[in-house]
Amino acid sequence: MDMILIEGGKPLHGVVRINGAKNASLPIMAASLLTGEPVIIEDVPDLIDVEIMSRILEALGAEVHRQKAQNQVNIRFSNLVHNKVPHDLVSKMRASFLVIGPLLARLKKARISLPGGCAIGVRPIDLHWKGLTALGAEFIVGNGYVEAVTDGLKGAHIYLDYPSVGATENIMMAATLAEGVTVIENASLEPEIVDLANFLSSMGAIISGAGTPTVKIEGVESLGGTRYLIIPDRIEAGTFMIAAAATGGRITLQNVVFDHLKSLVAKLTEAGVTIDQSAGGDIVVESETRLRSVDIKTLPYPGFPTDLQPQFTVLLAIAQGVGMVTETVFENRFRHVEELIRMGAEIKVEGRNLIIQGHEQICGASLKATDLRAAAALVIAGLAARGRTEVSGTVHLDRGYYNFDQKLRMLGAHTYRLEKGGEKTRAL
Ligand code: EPZ
Repeated sequence: MDMILIEGGKPLHGVVRINGAKNASLPIMAASLLTGEPVIIEDVPDLIDVEIMSRILEALGAEVHRQKAQNQVNIRFSNLVHNKVPHDLVSKMRASFLVIGPLLARLKKARISLPGGCAIGVRPIDLHWKGLTALGAEFIVGNGYVEAVTDGLKGAHIYLDYPSVGATENIMMAATLAEGVTVIENASLEPEIVDLANFLSSMGAIISGAGTPTVKIEGVESLGGTRYLIIPDRIEAGTFMIAAAATGGRITLQNVVFDHLKSLVAKLTEAGVTIDQSAGGDIVVESETRLRSVDIKTLPYPGFPTDLQPQFTVLLAIAQGVGMVTETVFENRFRHVEELIRMGAEIKVEGRNLIIQGHEQICGASLKATDLRAAAALVIAGLAARGRTEVSGTVHLDRGYYNFDQKLRMLGAHTYRLEKGGEKTRAL
């Protein structure tokens, strides 16, 4: 199994450019189903999840050309012929469920295997179902598949019991071609929702209120092609900010939106990290002294993002004092904790809470990653630890971070990636 080897104790220094957002790229790629015209999407990171979404779109009849060197994806559905998403692809990535809304809008039918749970929780789809049913879709479930059909989607007033990101995205996409007006109440406020709405508007959709709890979509006859630039990845940026803080370094992040990181900036500042914004919009993160423990509680945006909780837990494991982490979004997002305890971290799990007694030092160990953000957290732990750490399961990293360990090496980290065949990536 691939692994990353890390010699800890080296502060990170230098400049890192953040890529386009994975969690904006995936719904925007799915939304390309809504038109038969060419769609060009820029700054799409070269990730395993982007590859999976590309293959799903191809299975549905799209021509997909990825110009990886320019991080550009060209998509055209001139003949959207199929409405069945292959099971092997759905089982790999929950976000594949985002094609349901566009397929219903374009083909009036869709067939997809139910996205299973994953390492961080059950991941139900009841809110997607509620919204699309309200628009006039009928769902039939059998043998692990769900079939959705409609005589034609019609606008509706939908209240989301929880501001689900995916459900807001699916309903918004479907509603762009529905007859009449759709209103989504208690919609997700995430920046990726706003990016999707801007993408859809660039295709001719009529959407207002994205980024607020009430989103209004006026259905149109058809949507056209577009060229669109994806927003920077706030979770990748936050991951590097936490890595700099954990190693006592100083780094500059380029291609970031400061506003998208306010909750993390507030918590890092409270812990003693210095964070400035340069005139050009770059973010400079510096940490010279041992950090103070703080408490965090994950919440839907603009609250503290659940996707940065595992990484921030590492910071609290080496901070001064006792910190508390409350995970309110997913029910099983503490899989990284047992691995951190093996490095000497002192963490108690109490339901959805972690009580973390900070220690000045944690020690390198052989660790196993179980999901994307846990993998990033364990790499950060290795960077901060004394001695050598091996993190296996790097395939999880490659799902959501482009060149993560290479970027860390450029910042002075002593890391190697051990591929299957045993070749070592030379440290720079
Ligand atoms: C998106 O997942 C992100 N993925 C996740 O990032 C992120 O953690 C999550 O939003 C929360 O911010 C993508 O955008 C591809 P949700 P999504 O629907 O849409 C419950 C990463 O690491 N829920 O907002 O699946 C659900 O169980 C990934 O990049 C229902 O109950 O998140 C969870 O507890 C991990 N019924 C909560 O809502 C539903 O129908 C949040 O889920 C849907 C969701």
